Amino acid sequence: MGNQHCEYYESNQELTDSTFNKIRRVVYDKSGISLGENKQALVRARVAKRMRSLNIATYDSYINYVLSETTGVELEYMLDAISTNTTHFYREESHFDLMRTIIRDWAKDGLRKMRIWCAASSTGEEPYTLGIETLESIGHDQVNAKILATDIAPSVLKTAMVGEYSEDKVATIPDHLRSHYFERVKINGDYIYKVKPMLKNLLIFRQMNLSVTPYALKNQIDMIFCRNVMIYFDRTLRARLVAEFKRLIRPGGYLFVGHAESITAFSEGFKCIKPSVYKRI
Ligand SMILES: C[S@@+](CC[C@H](N)C(=O)[O-])C[C@H]1O[C@@H](n2cnc3c(N)ncnc32)[C@H](O)[C@@H]1O
Repeated sequence: MGNQHCEYYESNQELTDSTFNKIRRVVYDKSGISLGENKQALVRARVAKRMRSLNIATYDSYINYVLSETTGVELEYMLDAISTNTTHFYREESHFDLMRTIIRDWAKDGLRKMRIWCAASSTGEEPYTLGIETLESIGHDQVNAKILATDIAPSVLKTAMVGEYSEDKVATIPDHLRSHYFERVKINGDYIYKVKPMLKNLLIFRQMNLSVTPYALKNQIDMIFCRNVMIYFDRTLRARLVAEFKRLIRPGGYLFVGHAESITAFSEGFKCIKPSVYKRI
């Protein structure tokens, strides 16, 4: 992803208020991400990398290029560079403790088919964590489970689909689970952890823009994890997302949002069972 190191690609060019506003508008219209006025330096640094690789001298020429480029590829690169993709295995771990309990209870009640959606799945750490916990909760043979992992950015989806992580990335996975679900291979002197097929086969990856509703999902969903993306959306879009989640989650199913996120203002149809966890009623 473009976000973590782009700050080093400084441009000498000025990003004027009017060009910044133009970029903000495009980002909002195409992804729903609301960039506050205080994000000018961030946008300047992150877009500079794309300008450099395209040899484009000014921010205004760059955004005009994005808008004129009919394939939409550069728009994807720009959104990719601007959005934040931070994630890690077992992020906000208490959610997975609760998920285990819920899945075990469902399995005890005879539920064998489970559909889980990880919306805004970034580079895959979150949906793979969901996969590990699903398999650990109900056993490999007894479950017909699928985890749908979606994100707006093709580059992060590609990383997720490849399913290879460096040693530091897998450090938050408990040892016994890491050795069970990942194959450790040495490549050019470094250890890489490859997701094993038994885990990978549980996941389905798809590009999907959460700001475009209604979502084209046919089946009812048992659990949705939509974490750490709504913070980038405004209230109107957050309400639209939650209405869609309400439509898609079956009664008795769950919605998990990020610890810093709250949907209490528009959570009709859900019961908040603890902060950031909502049960569909
Ligand atoms: C901060 S990461 C969160 C990743 C993961 N859910 C977690 O909690 O660790 C935010 C992700 O949201 C994605 N994203 C941003 N806008 C989006 C949109 N409109 N539709 C779908 N995904 C979006 C970004 O590409 C990024 O991968």
